[in-house]
Amino acid sequence: MNIPDHVAIILDGNGRWAKKRGMPRTFGHAQGAREVERCCEYAWNMGIKYLTVYAFSTENWKRPKDEVKALMKLLAEYMRTSVEKTMKNNIRIRVIGDKSGLEEKLRDSIAHLEEVTKNNTGLSFQIAINYGARDEICRAVTELVKARVSAGSAEKVTEEELSAYLDTAGLPDPDLLIRTCGEQRISNFLLWQLAYTELYFTDKPWPDFSKEELERAVEAYGQRDRKYGGVKV
Ligand code: IPE
Ligand code: IPE
Ligand code: MG
Repeated sequence: MNIPDHVAIILDGNGRWAKKRGMPRTFGHAQGAREVERCCEYAWNMGIKYLTVYAFSTENWKRPKDEVKALMKLLAEYMRTSVEKTMKNNIRIRVIGDKSGLEEKLRDSIAHLEEVTKNNTGLSFQIAINYGARDEICRAVTELVKARVSAGSAEKVTEEELSAYLDTAGLPDPDLLIRTCGEQRISNFLLWQLAYTELYFTDKPWPDFSKEELERAVEAYGQRDRKYGGVKV
């Protein structure tokens, strides 16, 4: 089977999953976080090398204060408690997004987890926190312009050059994007990187995502004909 190297996932439907069970939305987020951990394991076992998940968008700050607080708490808990597990499973963690907008304590635990796992050679796991693709591009362009001004250069910017300023610098573009829980939109995720990514939508809410669901998505990916604008001879 043709296994994608890099799978990106828009984890959606935690709230609806909880509501259906008569529980608060935050209960769905806690269940969703557990599913993320399981997903790292079965993705790697299937041969996926890079996994990038959308955990909190630049737009998610609009949510009720209590929900934002609960999400930040879950993320902080994840960073704190994952050191041992990620080392044992040889996972390298990177956080993409505007970290400067996060609380200092969370920023510190992210920096620690990124540092201790940086030489791990198993799954490369990216978590998007306070991430918005338009914001990422604006931040990248700002840094690029600064470098250009100090070099006094007005040469045409190349795709490789801009890519190197993005949070995902050095990572391959996703081969497959999965969005759970029925919505068929990108919601400001990886706009640049998804240019030629295969898209897959499932009605399953994220907390019910499973190894079988990922296998179904990967199987569908295997049937796709990736042409990149060319023609198959
Ligand atoms: C995804 O689930 C998690 C985050 C966006 C943080 P949602 O919280 O968006 O769940 P629904 O879409 O309201 O069901
Ligand atoms: C996208 O989900 C963001 C994350 C999964 C973190 P949302 O639930 O916030 O997206 P919309 O509001 O349905 O577009
Ligand atoms: Mg949602």
